[in-house]
Amino acid sequence: MKQKILSKLKSTEGFVSGQMLSNEYGITRAAIWKNINQLKKEGYEVESVPRKGYRLISSPDKISSKEISPLLSTKVFGKKIIHYDSIGSTNTEAKILCDQGLEEGSVILAEEQTSGRGRLGRNWSSPKGSSISMSLVLRPDINPVNVSKVTQISAAALSLALDELGVSSGIKWPNDIQINHKKICGILTEMSSELNKINYVIMGIGINVNINKDSFPDELKDIATSLKHEFNREFSRKELVALFLKHFEKMYFDFVKYNNTEEAFNICREKSVLLGRDINVIRGSKITPAKAISIDDNGELLVEYSDGTRSNLISGEVSVRKK
Ligand code: BTN
Repeated sequence: MKQKILSKLKSTEGFVSGQMLSNEYGITRAAIWKNINQLKKEGYEVESVPRKGYRLISSPDKISSKEISPLLSTKVFGKKIIHYDSIGSTNTEAKILCDQGLEEGSVILAEEQTSGRGRLGRNWSSPKGSSISMSLVLRPDINPVNVSKVTQISAAALSLALDELGVSSGIKWPNDIQINHKKICGILTEMSSELNKINYVIMGIGINVNINKDSFPDELKDIATSLKHEFNREFSRKELVALFLKHFEKMYFDFVKYNNTEEAFNICREKSVLLGRDINVIRGSKITPAKAISIDDNGELLVEYSDGTRSNLISGEVSVRKK
């Protein structure tokens, strides 16, 4: 009911009378009033004027289904949105729900994570209301060896979404998005599979949107940033989620239906912050200097070591070498 009343308020420019809402939804005016109060508690600003009714003045910047659904242009991704005010990790939650059969295209979103997980067992910080913590449920009918391509598709999709907001970003293969050479987004792709068959893939993405620079822990201040810090203004998280899902859906289905990754990989190449640069390839405690040559048609990073030998990296950790 609350959702219906909210939709009505959102689609009406002026006031909506309590009587009209009560007639339309077949509940008493007192029940309408109760629902309006609940919306106010959730952060919606609603003006109530006797004999005129209710008018929506502003909506909270929440990444809930109520806020994101009206912005979606997708067919599959985001049709089901599960939203938490606070959760340990959206990836961990997605896994539990996938084991219970959650369908492809479902999106788990949280205002904050209390045990957000990064790659290689690291922690991921997701402060309340100022970051995006999102996990997408994928059930692709592809060989498990090709799953890492989804990470590249996701990076390309976020970069296109940021372009639409006037933000130019760089992609650091395989899973970081940077602005001015500092990280604003990380991707953690996890999978449950048998040898030749995928049960599901969870594509987790964390974006530093409106985080104040002084909220970053000291050890991250030089390597991480947020959109707000770089551009000195707030960004709409819900708009960014909707734009991301639009681009992701297109390139994901190009891949899983037609085995076409051309658009996504071209974006990863064009926006790469590594190609042509001297890098370090990091494997545990072993650091090997190399040069980043290209991203091939499998989304692998071709590197050349100082002895002239070349190898393709499927995933892993690399860093740009300081001059
Ligand atoms: C990395 O750069 O190390 C990857 C970070 C991935 C963070 C996201 S936030 C949403 C999802 N849930 C998690 O616990 N992690 C991913």
